[in-house]
Amino acid sequence: MEDHELVCYCDRVSKGEIITALEQGARTLSDIKRMTGACSSCRCKELNPKGRCCSQDIALLIKEYLDAKTGLC
Ligand code: FES
Repeated sequence: MEDHELVCYCDRVSKGEIITALEQGARTLSDIKRMTGACSSCRCKELNPKGRCCSQDIALLIKEYLDAKTGLC
């Protein structure tokens, strides 16, 4: 996934914006919501091509970021 690609389609938040929030100290979904506005509008079935909320995708990005930061696979 490229940094410019959208993760949250409802609020039009990209992967890069989420990574920036992580770099600025975000560690939870609530942090990401507060810092980027992602996962706030909840028109997911209509706007997200996956037909579901982006929360799982954001949680995965948080995990991948923290795993990479701590040297875990
Ligand atoms: S895709 Fe993020 S709130 Fe709908």
